[in-house]
Amino acid sequence: MEQDVLLVTDVEIEGSSPSGGVVSVWTLNRPEKLNALNEKIHLSIKKQCKRVDSDDRVRCVIIRGAPPLDPPEGKRKKPNSFAAGADISEFSGKNSDDVRPFFEDNAWEAIWNLSKPTIAMVDGFALGGGTELALSCDIRISSDRSMFGQPEINLGLIPGGGGTQRLCRLVGYGKAMEIVLAGEMITAKEALEIGLVNKVVMPEELEDATMDLATTIAKKSPYTTKVAKRAIRASLELPFSEGVLTERSEFVALFDTEDKEIGVQAFLERKDAEWVGN
Ligand code: COA
Repeated sequence: MEQDVLLVTDVEIEGSSPSGGVVSVWTLNRPEKLNALNEKIHLSIKKQCKRVDSDDRVRCVIIRGAPPLDPPEGKRKKPNSFAAGADISEFSGKNSDDVRPFFEDNAWEAIWNLSKPTIAMVDGFALGGGTELALSCDIRISSDRSMFGQPEINLGLIPGGGGTQRLCRLVGYGKAMEIVLAGEMITAKEALEIGLVNKVVMPEELEDATMDLATTIAKKSPYTTKVAKRAIRASLELPFSEGVLTERSEFVALFDTEDKEIGVQAFLERKDAEWVGN
């Protein structure tokens, strides 16, 4: 039987409001190929993106890689991996016309364009399209044994999943140049130092650290988290003064929402806010 290349689990979050909120955990599931992103994974991710954007229960998404399987006798265990890149076997013999449709409608942009918060939980290799997948998420939490990189240059390519753009905005021009032009891997510690990841923890702490953050986010007003994400995103597209105006207009508009009144009253009455989501 063919394996499911993307495993999806919706974890219910107690105390979320409106009640029934879930964190949707997506596991890239090709551990024998270090979770390399083939066309099927892209299709499954795009399908899930459509689903969660219209599913009010989903408050936050976590993307992770499946851990390595136990090897057959005498074989070595495959290394831990978030995703070791686009599936290189799908590149062989292809020309630009063959690959253009796929790259014009890909999973990296589908994740980036989600209106809801996303977290990459990285344990192991995040290379090429794997680093780009992490960059398409809003936040990255990594184990201390992870390795990041954009090795496409070694294949005679450049990043094609938005890596040159998102990496540059996240870590700056000089570091992005070094990572893309040298094509060498960097450690999680270096990734933390340059701002590529938000947090580094021990492998055994990774799931809890990621779920704790997702749960914290999942308990906010689902309406307000979307507005916050939209406002921060605007900073990437707009000149500074226009960005400030955009923020102001989003902020002022929140004064017409029920959740603003609920949040303010909850603070004044020293109780937990019971959001209604609008
Ligand atoms: N695409 C397709 N298959 C991949 C892959 C990718 N990006 N990365 C790893 N794999 C496959 C390998 O072909 C191998 O398959 P096999 O066991 O059927 O031969 C399996 O995953 C394990 O990888 P392997 O190379 O044997 O593991 P390793 O521990 O020796 O090396 C890496 C790990 C990550 C250093 C190495 O796999 C690698 O360099 N991968 C490619 C990274 C890359 O260039 N990504 C950018 C793509 S644009």
